[in-house]
Amino acid sequence: MSSSKQAKTWLGTDDKFVRLRKIETLDPQTDFREITELFYTDFQSVMVVQGVAGLLFTYSAPRMSRILSASRQLEHHTAKRYVDTATFNAAVMQNGLNTGDGREAARRVNAMHRQYDIHPQDFVAVGCDVPATSLDLAERFGWRPVTDIEREGVLRHYTLEARAFGSHDPMPDTMDGVRAFWNHYLDTQATFEPQNKALTDALMTFMPTLVPGPLKRIINPILTAQVDPRILRACGLPVPSRLRKGLSTAFVKSLGKSDPKPDSYTSTTLSDLRDKIYPNGWSIQTLGTHLKEHKDPAAHATPAATADAATPVDAHAETAEKGQS
Ligand code: HEM
Repeated sequence: MSSSKQAKTWLGTDDKFVRLRKIETLDPQTDFREITELFYTDFQSVMVVQGVAGLLFTYSAPRMSRILSASRQLEHHTAKRYVDTATFNAAVMQNGLNTGDGREAARRVNAMHRQYDIHPQDFVAVGCDVPATSLDLAERFGWRPVTDIEREGVLRHYTLEARAFGSHDPMPDTMDGVRAFWNHYLDTQATFEPQNKALTDALMTFMPTLVPGPLKRIINPILTAQVDPRILRACGLPVPSRLRKGLSTAFVKSLGKSDPKPDSYTSTTLSDLRDKIYPNGWSIQTLGTHLKEHKDPAAHATPAATADAATPVDAHAETAEKGQS
């Protein structure tokens, strides 16, 4: 075997099912973070759809899009918002909510959310959207069947993250409940308003910048073809023809077949974009929007200065962190 063609390994073994075997030894009530991280690693190629679908979901309901539009962040700082959101979520996925950057991410996002009058049911809806869409993509396009341990673990992870990020109302405690809540929410809240389209246009301009030349013209039509038609209509996007839906399904299925990615594979899209946006470095404390601090520049100090300000997260998030309902 030539030195260039290295044998593929998964968790250091030649068994591509090893992450699944690991998941089957874990308890979704206590090991939900690890289960969720292994789940996303095993199905990472098809989750590219979730990145777009998740943002369009928040643009489809005017009660949310009015707030997101008013902050002028997603329209005018799309790349930064995309990078900061992915980095905050990755910090929680890698560290959990109890320690280091995971705890800091919860503090930061909670502080951002407190600036806005967010409807409690919208928090639950966004909390439901990520597990519902991710599990659905893995079930439809994944290289292997999804297990009940993964469904339960992923739901528990996002239930606790939603609470730590400021949600006060509980999420449904089963995936059937989550899907029912998600469907009812779209039936009752998703409707077109001009700001939905403005936010969507900014995202549709940004997404092609993430992919190489040949994919730039097809990435949006392919990804949006897998988004719920209620969301597409509310965002002013065309509902796909049978041909476009069929081509998109074949494309995402072929992505799914490239999983599970071996240990040697690392996606550099996020880190490359982050290095471009933060050439002088970044820390979890400096990510996100700092509306309050903008009025007091002194408070927007370097990470070192903020470290000692690590006052405990508000009582509610503390409870969520300890996994207590
Ligand atoms: C469980 C539910 C939710 C999660 C997990 C979540 C997650 C996040 C994350 C990771 C950020 C930081 C993003 C960044 O720095 O760009 C953020 C910021 C923000 N979120 Fe949420 N969010 C949730 C619910 C909501 C809801 C329901 C709204 C209502 C509109 C909302 C509005 C905002 C706003 C306005 C910001 C600040 C950034 C900006 O000004 O655009 N979030 N959220």
